[in-house]
Amino acid sequence: MDVIRVQNEQEMSEKAASLLFQQIQQKPHTVLGLATGGTPKGTYRVFVQKAEKENIDLSHVTTFNLDEYVGLLPSDTHSYHYYMDEHFFQPLRLDKEQTYLPRGDAPDIEQETKRYEQLITQHGGMDVQLLGIGENGHIGFNEPGTSFSSRTHVVDLNESTRQANARYFESLQAVPKQAVTMGIATIMGSRQIVLLASGERKQEAMKRLLEGDIDESFPASILKKHPYVTIIADKKALSLV
Ligand code: GLP
Repeated sequence: MDVIRVQNEQEMSEKAASLLFQQIQQKPHTVLGLATGGTPKGTYRVFVQKAEKENIDLSHVTTFNLDEYVGLLPSDTHSYHYYMDEHFFQPLRLDKEQTYLPRGDAPDIEQETKRYEQLITQHGGMDVQLLGIGENGHIGFNEPGTSFSSRTHVVDLNESTRQANARYFESLQAVPKQAVTMGIATIMGSRQIVLLASGERKQEAMKRLLEGDIDESFPASILKKHPYVTIIADKKALSLV
């Protein structure tokens, strides 16, 4: 894993956006794997600004998001559909046919997990997958203990994850109890992975990621087995390593 140590969140976002642009320049038909949460927001902001300024053609790009909450409609302001529309898809004027997320409101959620996994396969998998990291080492919504061979599936969210994400909802009770997420093997199928981490909240997770063993109790640890991982993390996130 390559580690790029940066000063702050802004620098992390600029580096990450540049990597995505390089990829699209080299391969206009890029399949991007995208993440949500607070961490990639700056990357999306920088990306949108640069795409507008330089009039970059994104018409051949396809995107797949990592995850979505079960039970939320895409129009729900807390859904990851809404987040992606707001921060990335609409500002870039991407077509609906270019952008995929799992449907948390699907009537048959198990069927939805299969459909999503097949869609990814049909598109040839991701060229670059952007990742954040949970404080407990989760990637996507793959909580500690998830099998490294998992594909897209439904998960029961850990109480600690619900608490960490409650800041985006009115209350802890409002945070859904389940999500659909790409599995760990799905994520590992991406040809390149870029993991972002910013701020003190991620110190412990980054220490364990960089210094700990590969173990299902810490989902992100599997990334050590991937041939092409770039970690872009700021000083605060790396202060224990
Ligand atoms: C959520 C998302 C993850 C994200 C993590 C960290 O649980 N499902 O994809 O990486 O939170 O979020 P944040 O970037 O807000 O710290």
